Amino acid sequence: MHLLASVSFFMLHLRMAGGARLRQHRSIRKQVHIPNATISDDVEMPIISIGTGGNERGLSFMIVEAWLSIGGRGIDTSYSNWNQYDVGAAILRSGVPREELFITTKIPGCYAVDTYVQKNLEQLGLRYLDMVLLEFSMPYRLCAKSWHQLEKLVEEGVIRAIGVSNFRRVWLGALMEVATVKPAVHQIELSVFHPNWDTVEVSHAYNIKTQAYTPFGSESVQKRIVGNAVVQQIAQNHKVTPRQVALRWLLQRQHLLVITSVMVKHQLIDADVFSFNLLPEELDELDRLGDS
Ligand SMILES: NC(=O)c1ccc[n+]([C@@H]2O[C@H](COP(=O)([O-])OP(=O)(O)OC[C@H]3O[C@@H](n4cnc5c(N)ncnc54)[C@H](OP(=O)(O)O)[C@@H]3O)[C@@H](O)[C@H]2O)c1
Repeated sequence: MHLLASVSFFMLHLRMAGGARLRQHRSIRKQVHIPNATISDDVEMPIISIGTGGNERGLSFMIVEAWLSIGGRGIDTSYSNWNQYDVGAAILRSGVPREELFITTKIPGCYAVDTYVQKNLEQLGLRYLDMVLLEFSMPYRLCAKSWHQLEKLVEEGVIRAIGVSNFRRVWLGALMEVATVKPAVHQIELSVFHPNWDTVEVSHAYNIKTQAYTPFGSESVQKRIVGNAVVQQIAQNHKVTPRQVALRWLLQRQHLLVITSVMVKHQLIDADVFSFNLLPEELDELDRLGDS
């Protein structure tokens, strides 16, 4: 039943995608080269993943298809995006070997873990998940119970790594007390104007990797970043764009990234942030933007 659903979605999307767009991706020669980071003893993941949530709902197939065609391998999705059939169809369409991909998905809150993991697997058309995050905290006992269920799924080989998203300091502390497998990643909103120092500090103190989502901030913050004189000057110093400066700052402050764009040219620019280094004084200047 599930296979039939996946195949029909796949066929539908093939038709919707149309020859023209597929030809566009094929003709693009430029590829992204994204290094991996070690997130737990035996698991590595790409430093940059493509996001499939937020405003681009309905366009996920195209986003993932473009990303895989330019060599991106990290994909970030969630049960609550309501688009995992599309993401799964794009993965299937790409023909990229499963072991090359790193797929993160999420469970909405801290309950019904087994059910949601099963639904995520079915919707994505996968046999295992690279990482599963509890998307936000709930009363402590529920999260502790959910965490133990996730640990069991790691032991059974259904999930390779587990983590959390949007957990405040107190919830993270409570989880650390009961966790046998510690969270590998904490996914939180982070940008130049929203550095979230407190959550970052506690996560790093527990040796949990932070992963920045919405790295350009809301629409109004995006304008502030792109139009900011400090960011612009630093961009000029390195002959890059202000957005690349904003992403590079996050990388050098030790965060993994989830970026997103429906445009392949934007994906290429946003992933091209490994060929320059911000100087310590530039990092400090950018830190001060967040403080203000
Ligand atoms: N865990 C959570 O609670 C949570 C919450 C929110 C998001 N997320 C994840 O994080 C991902 C990214 O976050 P986000 O979608 O909020 O926002 P984002 O990545 O900060 O920004 C996306 C926006 O930036 C634009 N953009 C990207 N690169 C650009 C470029 N080079 N030039 C011009 N415009 C550019 C995109 O427009 P174009 O498409 O036109 O390029 C899009 O409107 C989501 O997809 C989701 O997977 C997680």
